[in-house]
Amino acid sequence: MDVETLNRTIAEIEAKTAAAAAAAGSVDVLRAVESGVLGKKGTLGSLLANIREYPAEQRGQVGQIVNAAKGRVQELINARKAELEAAAGAADAAAGDTFDPTVPGRRGKLGSVHPVTAVQWEVERIFQRLGFTVEAGPEMETEYYNFEALNIPADHPARDVQDTFWLASGMCLRTQTSPVQVRSMEKFGPPLRIIAPGRCFRNETVDASHATTFHQVEGLLIDRDISLAHLIALAQTLLSEVMHREVKVRTRPGYFPFVEPGIEIDMNCQICGGQGCPTCKHSGWLEILPAGMVHPNVLRAGGIDADEWSGFAFGLGLTRLAMMKYGIKDIRVLNSGDIRPIVGAARLSGVVLGGRE
Ligand code: PHE
Repeated sequence: MDVETLNRTIAEIEAKTAAAAAAAGSVDVLRAVESGVLGKKGTLGSLLANIREYPAEQRGQVGQIVNAAKGRVQELINARKAELEAAAGAADAAAGDTFDPTVPGRRGKLGSVHPVTAVQWEVERIFQRLGFTVEAGPEMETEYYNFEALNIPADHPARDVQDTFWLASGMCLRTQTSPVQVRSMEKFGPPLRIIAPGRCFRNETVDASHATTFHQVEGLLIDRDISLAHLIALAQTLLSEVMHREVKVRTRPGYFPFVEPGIEIDMNCQICGGQGCPTCKHSGWLEILPAGMVHPNVLRAGGIDADEWSGFAFGLGLTRLAMMKYGIKDIRVLNSGDIRPIVGAARLSGVVLGGRE
């Protein structure tokens, strides 16, 4: 091919390439055009493969002509590529596809655990830090563990059919979490520290503060030289941690067959802060933690030497605590499927818990 023919050929290739690039509707198509011209076997790319056919003195000129043409074609392709990319971006934006992977995602609403469960988990965490393990007992219980082993005589009113749901088998639905006391003594022996949260059942007439199903947390600590002072200090720590503020406690005598002495630990009312309101029956105090020193008969039932070991037990009203904490005034909403009163109360709980009502 002489130089003249070469120039003509190149002019044709450039014209064709310009037309093909303009017609390319996408970057992919354009890339195919590009390699068809500039690739090793492309129309321009292959022109120098036979450079040896030219006389030696012409080779430099031929090289320059071809390379200049390659440069022009590459520029043309690049310009068209930029055009196509800009158009594609504009089309995406117009279609609302403005996805930005650096923007934080939107969280779905997952709901939350039941208020009683939330308080239970919190209580468990506090006690685990204090070296207690979390135990569970059966909700369907024998008369022995629910009553007899707990020093509750057969004629005690707590056994009355009015209060207890008896099953045809002679078993009952546990009326308290206290049966886990003797079960744990049998399982672990002394010394021991356990809590046992769970459901309890009583044949009550349902009203704003009574339900047939409610939750307690049993606590039991057995060791050497344990006194009421340990119990009261523990109660104060526990209640303050759950309420996230310093609470006051006071004690009164209380009677439970399985403790001696038995006490009632009250905390200052978290609704009114102690001034007096309907929730605390205008006393400024709330009954929250019945407790006492474990009765020797109960230790013996659990196979523990009552001369060597002593301990305390308590029965935290978990449902009551949840109501206090979240400002829920009617126990019935906790066992219903309608979560609106709970959500509303929890939202207000900052006010209720702060005693600024
Ligand atoms: N089990 C008792 C109740 O349900 C509470 C309690 C537990 C009292 C442990 C003293 C010790 O009322």
